[in-house]
Amino acid sequence: MLTVTFVSTNSGKYREVRALLRPFGIQVRWKRRKLPEPQTANIEEVVRSKLNAVRDVTGWVLVEDSGLFIPSLNGFPGVYSAHILDIWGFGPLFELLKRRPRAASFRAVAGLRLGRRIWLFPGEVRGKIAPRAAGKNGFGYDPIFVPEGRTRTFAQIPVAEKNELSHRSQALRAAGQLLASLDARGRTRRPRRKRSAA
Ligand code: IMP
Repeated sequence: MLTVTFVSTNSGKYREVRALLRPFGIQVRWKRRKLPEPQTANIEEVVRSKLNAVRDVTGWVLVEDSGLFIPSLNGFPGVYSAHILDIWGFGPLFELLKRRPRAASFRAVAGLRLGRRIWLFPGEVRGKIAPRAAGKNGFGYDPIFVPEGRTRTFAQIPVAEKNELSHRSQALRAAGQLLASLDARGRTRRPRRKRSAA
């Protein structure tokens, strides 16, 4: 079975990543390490810099960066989502959205590294900010995010249902597909030949 090392400090992300890669037959090992995040509004750049910081980790390495983007706030909190939630909680965000459109989206970019090779996989889910926090599942902004076409927040629906639609699931499924097609050294897996009967 192929093993990938997921480098992050976020246990909520780790649980999702493990569940999302399981169907591809990929085992996820968690390395808890804080990675540097450059001052940039671009998630891809953040992921490239995280991939740079895990060059010492051997084998397949996975990193991820994500955030909540609110167009009526010019994309805020975006790449600063984790920090803003730590210092603000949800209150000031509700205050800012009192007279502004509540459309929002979660974006994620997963990054894989094997030696010198890297791959990036984006994912996005659209929705809106709920009038108030609701639900106990998940992590981060899950209690205030209602995905498009639903009436309940990510924290009110079972994690398996969140994993069908989320930004992270889109990015991780694409990563899972690539991993399932390669071996531990990054070579294309050959389909097993059937032995001929003769
Ligand atoms: P970072 O990728 O470590 O910079 O952190 C991203 C932050 O965005 C998380 O700590 C959460 O606050 C928020 N976030 C990203 N994805 C999700 C999600 O699926 N649910 C809720 N919050 C999320």
